[in-house]
Amino acid sequence: MTPHSSRAVRIEHTGGPEQMQLVTLEVGAPGPGEVRIRHHAIGLNFIDVYQRSGLYPLPLPLTLGMEGAGVIEAVGAGVTHLQVGDRAAYASQPPGSYCEQRLLPATHVCRLPDSIAFEEGAAMMLKGLTAQYLLRHCKPVEGLEAGDFVLFHAAAGGVGLIACQWARALGLQLIATAGTDEKCALALANGAAHAINYRRENFAARVRELTFGRGVKVVYDAVGKDTWEGSLDSLAPFGLLVSFGNASGPVPPFAPALLAAKGSVYVTRQTLFTHLSSRARTQAMADELFAVVCSGAVKIHVEQRYPLAQVQQAHRALEARQTVGSTVLLP
Ligand SMILES: NC(=O)c1ccc[n+]([C@@H]2O[C@H](COP(=O)([O-])OP(=O)(O)OC[C@H]3O[C@@H](n4cnc5c(N)ncnc54)[C@H](OP(=O)(O)O)[C@@H]3O)[C@@H](O)[C@H]2O)c1
Repeated sequence: MTPHSSRAVRIEHTGGPEQMQLVTLEVGAPGPGEVRIRHHAIGLNFIDVYQRSGLYPLPLPLTLGMEGAGVIEAVGAGVTHLQVGDRAAYASQPPGSYCEQRLLPATHVCRLPDSIAFEEGAAMMLKGLTAQYLLRHCKPVEGLEAGDFVLFHAAAGGVGLIACQWARALGLQLIATAGTDEKCALALANGAAHAINYRRENFAARVRELTFGRGVKVVYDAVGKDTWEGSLDSLAPFGLLVSFGNASGPVPPFAPALLAAKGSVYVTRQTLFTHLSSRARTQAMADELFAVVCSGAVKIHVEQRYPLAQVQQAHRALEARQTVGSTVLLP
């Protein structure tokens, strides 16, 4: 191996986990605005599954992965916020974090506070910055205040467990859904006010009971196809459905008149990468995330670890709903 060769997980074709193969790539010097980072840990995210399967099409061949943490080894011209030797973490486009070392634009790379371990850093940037924009920026027209009810699906997952804790810190009454009773218990232990096993119970009916018939002000829904109708039925009048993922498949097309029938409700489809529009905005969001983690209000649950070479097993577990909290790959 030369000093800058890196093992990396690539796909030549979209498809199942078997498409991911370990290859060796050469990593050059950073160009203007770029850094070279050596990963200590890599974050696994459901978006990696969408990119691998072809649901989110990207040019091929493709090195997967959007999240990582490690040490900056080289800095390109014009990069002023990072230096060689800095501990750093990121959620970033383009993909390419499933590797030992890589080049990437410095815009979304943030210095990691000393009290946050690399594994936590790799597990919290994409998921934690998502929880940040969901809870802090996606507001219903009537506002969101301490004591208000919100509904969060797949609440024992990577984004979900961060959101449960952050919502509690904001004083919100988060109603969690999850696919097993154990996952429901985990969401409750992490700050959810109530938890519903949505594989056993009609969650919309239960939400009505819990909210005294009114419904919630916001539903955060990244499950997609399977929860879409129930999510609309869980909203209070003028409530907001924030769609941000499709773990069960994409939401089917719908007629706007449906939103009137459900109580003049609002629907938005969000992506983190609109929010990470500049270095300043990325850093401001990361500073809020680092603050809640460093204060202890939000703990990052790294519950699964796999060597990079076992990435296929990691994807299979995530898709089979066998994981809780965050998963990291270790290079
Ligand atoms: N738009 C954005 O900005 C953005 C950013 C980050 C993440 N996301 C989305 O947020 C969601 C959570 O991401 P994550 O990486 O933290 O994953 P995760 O929540 O750890 O894993 C996905 C969870 O979805 C639930 N699920 C429900 N139906 C499913 C199905 N048919 N197949 C697989 N899983 C199913 C499972 O929990 P239960 O067993 O409890 O149902 C599963 O554990 C994903 O949809 C992801 O794409 C969106």
